[in-house]
Amino acid sequence: MRVLVTADYRTLSQTAAELIVKAVRGKAGLVLGLPTGRTPVGMYDELVRLHRNQSHDFSRIRTFNLDEYAGLHAGDPNSFDTYMHRHFFDHVNIPPENTHIPHEVANYEAAIRDAGGIDLLIVGIGTNGHIAFNEPGSSFTSRTRTVNLAPETVANATKQFGNNAVPKQAITMGIGTILESRHILLLASGTAKADIVRRALHGPITESVPASALQQHPNVIAILDEEAKSRG
Ligand code: PGA
Repeated sequence: MRVLVTADYRTLSQTAAELIVKAVRGKAGLVLGLPTGRTPVGMYDELVRLHRNQSHDFSRIRTFNLDEYAGLHAGDPNSFDTYMHRHFFDHVNIPPENTHIPHEVANYEAAIRDAGGIDLLIVGIGTNGHIAFNEPGSSFTSRTRTVNLAPETVANATKQFGNNAVPKQAITMGIGTILESRHILLLASGTAKADIVRRALHGPITESVPASALQQHPNVIAILDEEAKSRG
């Protein structure tokens, strides 16, 4: 695994966006695996800026999001579908039919296969080590499925949901699905992630730290800001 340490969140976001744009330029019809959450917001802002200021073209990419809350319809303000429109899809020239969000388990893996597999997947890390919604204990061979969210994950989402209840289940790509991607970018920012980043990158490879599975993948770049790197 290559580790890039950036001075701050802004540089982390720019570095991730530059690597994505380079990959998009390098292959017509690039297939991306895309994350949601707080961490990638700056990366999407930068991709939108590159589209606006430098006419960067996203018309041929295909995208598969990593996960979605179970039971939230696409237009729900808290759905990841809404997040993707707000932060990325509505501001660039990606055809809607090229985007995929796992509202249902059925056919998601087949759709990824039909697209030729994921070329570049971007993923964050939860404070409990989850990647996408693969919570601790998830099998490294797991595929797209419905999962129960860990109490810590539900607690972390409560602020965003305001008065609405946080769903207790989600649909997520599996760790096996993620590991089949040709290239992976892992993003982590802030001191709250420092301890789990150290365990994921340098600790034992174990299903109790789902992100440690990435140590087994040949093409991972971890982009960390100084704070996320601060514990080693
Ligand atoms: P965050 O979430 O980017 O909001 O910290 C990361 C994750 O839980 O995967």
